[in-house]
Amino acid sequence: MTNTELWQQAAGNIHWYKAPTTVLDESNPPFYRWFPDGTTNACYNALDIHVEQGRGEQAALIYDSPVTDTKRQYTYAQLLDQVSRFAGVLAGLGVAKGDRVIVYMPMVPEALIAMLACARLGAVHSVVFGGFASNELAVRIDDAAPKVIVSATCGVEPSRIVPYKPLLDDAIELAEHKPGHTVILHRPMQDAAMVEGRDLDWEQAVAAAEPAPCTPVAANDPLYILYTSGTTGQPKGVVRDTGGSIVALKWSMKNVYNVEPGDVYWAASDVGWVVGHSYIVYGPLFNGNTTVIYEGKPVGTPDPGAFWRVISEYNVKVMFTAPTAFRAIKKEDPEGKYLQQYDLSCLDALFLAGERCDPNTLEWAQDKLGVPVIDHWWQTETGWPICSNCLGIELLPVVPGSPARAVPGYDVQVLDENGEQVAAGDIGALVVKQPLPPGTFTTLWNAEDRYVSAYFSRYPGYYETGDAGYIDENGYIFVMARTDDVINVAGHRLSTGAMEEVLAEHPDVAECAVVGVADQMKGQLPLGLLVLNAGVDRPAEDIAAECIQHMRDKIGPVAAFKLCAVVDRLPKTRSGKILRGTMRSIADGESWKMPATIDDPVILDEITAALKALGYAQ
Ligand code: COA
Ligand code: AMP
Repeated sequence: MTNTELWQQAAGNIHWYKAPTTVLDESNPPFYRWFPDGTTNACYNALDIHVEQGRGEQAALIYDSPVTDTKRQYTYAQLLDQVSRFAGVLAGLGVAKGDRVIVYMPMVPEALIAMLACARLGAVHSVVFGGFASNELAVRIDDAAPKVIVSATCGVEPSRIVPYKPLLDDAIELAEHKPGHTVILHRPMQDAAMVEGRDLDWEQAVAAAEPAPCTPVAANDPLYILYTSGTTGQPKGVVRDTGGSIVALKWSMKNVYNVEPGDVYWAASDVGWVVGHSYIVYGPLFNGNTTVIYEGKPVGTPDPGAFWRVISEYNVKVMFTAPTAFRAIKKEDPEGKYLQQYDLSCLDALFLAGERCDPNTLEWAQDKLGVPVIDHWWQTETGWPICSNCLGIELLPVVPGSPARAVPGYDVQVLDENGEQVAAGDIGALVVKQPLPPGTFTTLWNAEDRYVSAYFSRYPGYYETGDAGYIDENGYIFVMARTDDVINVAGHRLSTGAMEEVLAEHPDVAECAVVGVADQMKGQLPLGLLVLNAGVDRPAEDIAAECIQHMRDKIGPVAAFKLCAVVDRLPKTRSGKILRGTMRSIADGESWKMPATIDDPVILDEITAALKALGYAQ
């Protein structure tokens, strides 16, 4: 079957108001357009269709929150009712097709309800992860220019309540664009001051609203914007279209994850990340599954048996999370004792993604769970897996360290710096031959030129993933490292470039570098080295501590920036480029070569000493 035949057939499995007559418009590369003349609605495909087809009484959503001691379920009919009413609230605030709505919410059902309500109206949601601070939220408010922001009074972390409303108020203050309204979900553990005329209470607004119907949209109309880290402080607003997303995500539920309508599917991530968009919200609901919103952690809520409890309590058939979650569990319960307390016979497979999966973690999970553990590779940009062992097609032998082969629709290749294909086993840039399949990003919001320059310029005809790796002689792909400033901290994608911009704001800092160093649990951690301005005579530890606090205030706790030291100079090439790669290798205790172009090799002794003092370079 050809690529277009595959997607034409998959498109036949979703609801269209007007079925597309063209499968792929190739007239304006790299802006390929799937199903250009179709019209559809994502919310209709997620909810209404299932109620109409007799799934109204099936659980659509299970909310399990150990941090608030709450469990709640919504059937498809109940969820449709809630979403239609909230769509009515948004419509009443003037939100219509094409308008943007920012959703800044903890892991509560209302986050999913707000997203689907936007989709119902053809409005474009942009979910911002709750662990980001006001400044990051403000940057996104200015870029997306939302009419309304939906938020809650607080998030609940195991050790503390995180008041969201003051963060939101600060962000609106900082931003140049001012939303007309906010809708705030009041949670019992935290109240919030409301701005008269601007802020609405969720419950009151819903009680007064009329349900709104679905608005048909063009297949290529945006479903959402999701900001992700790039090389600078300006995040990239990944835009996903509506028709392609429905077709690809629904196809992937059966073909990649092998779940049937009615099965319980659980992605233990956050709605603020792409995994949450695709596999907590849209994919499972397009496919008529039961999805789980889990507001808790793998450990400490209350113990490392938390995941096993959820799997057995709700009969989870397929689970998806990041390797870091399993490393956290393994660290606290290496023998898997907590597993013994639960019946996990319902579980067919575990999928892992978000960062490189070390073979140790994969083998531990395989051994303890006794089901296939599938490492798969994808990105915010692609929205669904590039490489995976596709369980619904054929279970290939699992090779630890590799996310297996390219998923149908992706032609993955490895190119050298001249754009030539390399031999099997040789490392190079991982690229995907165009066109990318449906459901991948169609542009960057307000930054069409950046879309072309960041992803499609270096290797004409290919999408540059930003990852490096190799393909072995069996077609297995190995994803080894990023080729840019992006690091992965506990499965969260962060930019060291953006962190350097924050450190450089400190008045005593002349120069700085942030590198991602290896961490046993989180995979990577950011580590900052500071060079101070001449004449600064305050204690170095005070300045490092201020920088750590400033990072928390500017980017947010999610940056996990806790390693920082002052040094006299940074190692550079003779042309002035900071040797970040060399510092990272020294920190990780890897073997490294003195760069031929280094300006002054002696500096590396001082860097090594500073890294040792932080517990690295051992
Ligand atoms: N709102 C506010 N703060 C948040 C937050 C949110 N939604 N999510 C995380 N934070 C805070 C945490 O409280 C923590 O703050 P601290 O520095 O005061 O401790 C900080 O951000 C870092 O959070 P996190 O990286 O999650 O670390 P952790 O130590 O709390 O937990 C793990 C570590 C491994 C248990 C956790 O990262 C995890 O479960 N990861 C699963 C993987 C995942 O969800 N990946 C997403 C992509 S698939
Ligand atoms: P995000 O956009 O947050 O999903 O992060 C995407 C990046 O995470 C990728 O570009 C990779 O660097 C990394 N990543 C995701 N999944 C994997 C995987 N299975 N193996 C290796 N790296 C991965």
